[in-house]
Amino acid sequence: MRFFIDTANLDEIKEAHELGVLDGVTTNPSLVAKEGVDFHDRLRQITEIVKGSVSAEVISLEAEGMIKEGRELAAIAPNITVKVPMTMEGLKAVKAFSDEGIKTNVTLVFSSVQALLAARAGATYVSPFLGRLDDIGHNGLDLISQISEIFDLHGIETQIIAASVRHPLHVSEAAARGAHISTVPLKVISQLAQHPLTDQGIEKFLADWDKQQK
Ligand code: E4P
Repeated sequence: MRFFIDTANLDEIKEAHELGVLDGVTTNPSLVAKEGVDFHDRLRQITEIVKGSVSAEVISLEAEGMIKEGRELAAIAPNITVKVPMTMEGLKAVKAFSDEGIKTNVTLVFSSVQALLAARAGATYVSPFLGRLDDIGHNGLDLISQISEIFDLHGIETQIIAASVRHPLHVSEAAARGAHISTVPLKVISQLAQHPLTDQGIEKFLADWDKQQK
C-alpha cells in the first residue's frame, strides 16, 4: 500500500515529501477553501513538489460542467487526477475523461456497488470514505474489504484509495484489507511513525552512552 497526503497545505505537503514516503496528494473543496488561495495556483505549486498523482476536485454537478472543469484542471500538469463525485452525472464525466486519457478519482464512495459502477465507467481510483462511515455507525473498513474482494474477483484494475482516514488503525487495517493507497492527514502520518517503546529505547541508549562517557 502506498501513501498520499490529504491536504492542500503546502508546508504539510513539503514536510511529508521530505520523509520520502509520499506518492501523491488528494485535495477537496473544503481543504482548498481552508487555505484561502487560488485553486489553480495552488495545484501548480503542489505539482511542482509531488510528481505522483495530485487529485483536484470539480465543483459542477452536471457532466458537461465537470468535463469542462476537469479538462482545465488536467491541463495544469500531467500528474493531475480529476476528482469527480460519485453521482450519475459524475459517471458520465468519468467515462468521457477515460476516453480522453485523463485520470480520475471517484470520490464520496460509501458502498461497494458505487465503487463497482465507478470502476466500470473507467475510474483510475475510487475513494471510499472510512471515517465518515464510522461516524454514522457503519464499519468503513468492511467497505474496503468488500470493494477489494469484488475488484479481485472480476479482475478490475481501478485502485482503491482509503480516504477519510482518522487514525493509525484505519491505515494498518486498510493495508491488510487490500487498499492500494491510503490518503492521510499529516497528523496521522506522524502518529504512524511514533511508538512509545521507540522513544523509551532512544532515551535508554542515550543514558547508557552518557554513563560510559563519564
Ligand atoms: C479524500 O480524498 C478526502 O479529501 C478526505 O479523505 C475526506 O476526509 P474527511 O472525512 O476527514 O473530510
